[in-house]
Amino acid sequence: MMHDEAYFRWRERKLASHPASIEELIVEVKDPESLSPIEIEAILERTGKANMAIYVSSHPHPDLKKFSLQFGLENLDANWLAGEDGVSRIEISESGKGYIPYTNRPIKWHTDGYYNPPERKIRAMLLHCAQSASDGGENRLMDHEILYCLLRDQNPAFIEALSAADAMTIPERIDEQGVARKAETGPVFSHDQEGFLHMRYTARTRSIAWKQDAVTLAAAAALEAILSSPSPYIFKTRLEPGMGLICNNVLHDRSGFLGNSRLLFRARYYDRIK
Ligand SMILES: [Fe+2]
Repeated sequence: MMHDEAYFRWRERKLASHPASIEELIVEVKDPESLSPIEIEAILERTGKANMAIYVSSHPHPDLKKFSLQFGLENLDANWLAGEDGVSRIEISESGKGYIPYTNRPIKWHTDGYYNPPERKIRAMLLHCAQSASDGGENRLMDHEILYCLLRDQNPAFIEALSAADAMTIPERIDEQGVARKAETGPVFSHDQEGFLHMRYTARTRSIAWKQDAVTLAAAAALEAILSSPSPYIFKTRLEPGMGLICNNVLHDRSGFLGNSRLLFRARYYDRIK
């Protein structure tokens, strides 16, 4: 855990500079595949403050890898359901085998890749909208660094408990072929070598096992309570065609939606936004 003095200085700066509304996160761009230095700077200013930015373009299906490279994102996590180039189509799909992202059902708060092993930590994530739903499909977003601060304000012991290497286990997933993914045990909060916070979390209650001690369970409950209460730090948006989210894997959810034409592209990276 970061030392008190350094932490409180960082916390103060963080809270003071955090955007007051979602509008402050939005950047208009002409061509996502070839951004101007000013557009890149504008996006980096926002990701620097809030770990996320939303860009608006008129391009429904740009090459996301070209977009990402402009931010130093190059090491894609190829999901087992991802398209061949490592970018996933998120839409209602039979090949999604009933997994919630590939249905029109709501998705609870999570960070991406919470079931990944430590060597495949998702540090950055991109969502680009090609087609929005006729109704619904909004995302709520929260900077995981802010959540860390709010939780630590409540009780530093919560942070300690959720930083334990055995805090949260995602059980193995079995399919017709046997074990499709082995169980993953790890911390919710960890810091990388440069000191950046990483968060591994899902608010789902099935297929997750919390360490069964009082402080871990209290910490998980406090975390969930923050995410389910109104907060000036929780932003809500609906991505429309040409819009996208670029983030350092912040907390997010998705509401349910109507119709079956919604199409988003998603790319997950082992790198952080440079
Ligand atoms: Fe996600």
